[in-house]
Amino acid sequence: MRSSGLKRPNVTRSAKTKQPAARRSATSILPWKLVSTSHQHTDRLGQVIGRVLRGGETIALYGPLGAGKTALVRGIAQGLGASPTAISSPTFVVIHEYYQGRLPLAHVDLYRIRTPRELESTGLIEYFSGQTVTAIEWADKGLAALPQDRIEITLNHRAARSRTIQLSATGPKSDEVLSHLRKQYSKTSRVHRVSPRRALDREATTRS
Ligand SMILES: Nc1ncnc2c1ncn2[C@@H]1O[C@H](COP(=O)(O)OP(=O)(O)O)[C@@H](O)[C@H]1O
Ligand SMILES: [Mg+2]
Repeated sequence: MRSSGLKRPNVTRSAKTKQPAARRSATSILPWKLVSTSHQHTDRLGQVIGRVLRGGETIALYGPLGAGKTALVRGIAQGLGASPTAISSPTFVVIHEYYQGRLPLAHVDLYRIRTPRELESTGLIEYFSGQTVTAIEWADKGLAALPQDRIEITLNHRAARSRTIQLSATGPKSDEVLSHLRKQYSKTSRVHRVSPRRALDREATTRS
């Protein structure tokens, strides 16, 4: 009897201490879904991603042709401080490297990869150590070679200028980056939402 009396508070305590952590991880591992309403919107998301990256991340991009994968990578490059105009789909060269930014960026397009042997010949896995950020279009074709901890981003057509974008993390490092990204992104979208009104206020002030 005494032992059951001792056990009960322990169970309660452990439930109390574990619950917040469980809730925290449950919210952070949930995919983050958003809708981009324009090319610029996707670009802005990419820029925030580029600003929060810490180095060594793998960003796996999924989605059909024209979904905006390259557009997003262009934003990421800009956020890293590299020139966005340098970024184009690496159609014949599978991997393009960019060194002008805060961190090196490898932009990979696996669209044309057909076999595991072709995948191996790209040398992709050599990018997964060190500080290089690796952004991979058509990542589904290279799943076997990808690091376990990665940021996954799936883009899909919704309407002519509208895309769904779903982001998730598959490991603790990516999870941290994604949490930071969500905070930073909500700050920039607040600024973005407020600025047109501010612009109108400014216009009204200068007119009166
Ligand atoms: N909301 C949007 N986000 C991204 N691209 C968009 C959006 N709306 C229209 N677009 C257009 O869709 C095309 C996306 O092309 P791209 O980024 O090369 O796609 P992918 O690399 O997925 O094949 C571009 O022409 C871009 O201007
Ligand atoms: Mg592309």
